[in-house]
Amino acid sequence: MTGEKRRARPALRWAGAVAFLVLLSACAPNAPQDALEPAGPYARQIDSLFNWVFWTAAGVFFLVEGLLVYALWKFRHRPGRPTPVQVHGNPRLEIAWTIAPAALLAAIAVPTVLLIFSLARRPPDAYDIEVVAHQFWWEVRYPRDQVVTANEVHIPVGQPVFVRLTSVDVIHSFWIPRLAGKRDVRPGAVTHLTLQAEQPGVYLGQCAEYCGLSHANMRLRVVAQPPEQFRTWVEQQRAPAAAQPSGAVVAAFQRAGCAGCHTLNGVEGFGAPSVRTSTVGPDLTHFGSRQTLAGATLENTPEQLAAWLRDPQAMKPGNDMVIPRLTEQEVDALVAYLESLK
Ligand code: CUA
Repeated sequence: MTGEKRRARPALRWAGAVAFLVLLSACAPNAPQDALEPAGPYARQIDSLFNWVFWTAAGVFFLVEGLLVYALWKFRHRPGRPTPVQVHGNPRLEIAWTIAPAALLAAIAVPTVLLIFSLARRPPDAYDIEVVAHQFWWEVRYPRDQVVTANEVHIPVGQPVFVRLTSVDVIHSFWIPRLAGKRDVRPGAVTHLTLQAEQPGVYLGQCAEYCGLSHANMRLRVVAQPPEQFRTWVEQQRAPAAAQPSGAVVAAFQRAGCAGCHTLNGVEGFGAPSVRTSTVGPDLTHFGSRQTLAGATLENTPEQLAAWLRDPQAMKPGNDMVIPRLTEQEVDALVAYLESLK
C-alpha cells in the first residue's frame, strides 16, 4: 500500500462519520413532516398511489439490478475461460422488453393522471376557506362566516374543505401531511387543495417551500372538530373582543404601534378583520383562544407570549414585528389582556 493511500483511509472514515451525523440530525420526534398514517380520504388516495408507484419502481429496480449483478458475476473473467457466445439481436426478447415497460408505465400513468384531475375538482359539498401566506405566518379566512384567524385552520370533521391559497409576498407551500398533498402558494395567483379529516384532532403542518429566514418557523395546524363544535367555534370567532383594554394596555398598544399591523374587532384605534383585505400581522380579536402563537411555533402560554413581546426577532428571526423594547409592566399588561381574549 502506498503512503498516500494510507493517509486517505482515516480521512475517508471521518468524512463517513460526519455524513452519518448530518443524516442523523434530520431526525426529530413528532416533527410535522414525519411520515404518518393518512387521516382522511384525500391523503389516503395520494398515499395509495404513492405505494403503488413506489413498490412497482422497487420491483423494477431489484429485477434490473439483480440481472445485472448476476450477469457480472456469472460471466466474469476467469483465466482459461473461452469467450462467451456472441449474440446479435433477438427480436422476441426486444419486443418483450419494449412491451413490458410500456404496459408498466401505462399502469402508473393512468391512475396518476386520473387522481391529479380528481383532486383538482372542488367537491360539490365542500366548505370553502381561504389561506393567505405571509412571511412567516398563515392568515385563515372563512368568507361564508366572515371569520378571520391565523395559523390554526379549524375544520368540521367528515366534510371536504376546499382551500384557496395565495400569498402576499413570496412563494410558500401549504402542507398538512396527514390530510392532503402539498401545494405551492404563490403571490398573484390562486392555487387550491381539498382537506378532509375523518377523526377529530390536531394535524400539524409546515410551510414546505423555502421563503426566507424563518421558513422553518412557519408552521400551522389543522384543528378538526365535530360539526357542532366547529359551529360553536365559528360563532365565538365572529364576536368582537371579549374585553376592553385598560389604560395601561392602551398606552402599551400606542407605544408599540400594534394597530399599524394588527386588527382587534371592537377595540378603539384598531381596525376590524376583513375576509377581503390582508393585514401585516395576525388578527388579535380571539388571540387567547389559539393554541399557539408566532406562526404556530410557540405554545400560547403567558410565559411564551411575554418572551415573544420582549424580543420577537430573537424568537423568530426576520419577521415583520419590529417594536421598541417594552418595559416589564407593559409586557405584563399586554400578556394579561391578550390572553383574556378567548
Ligand atoms: Cu413560508 Cu417557507
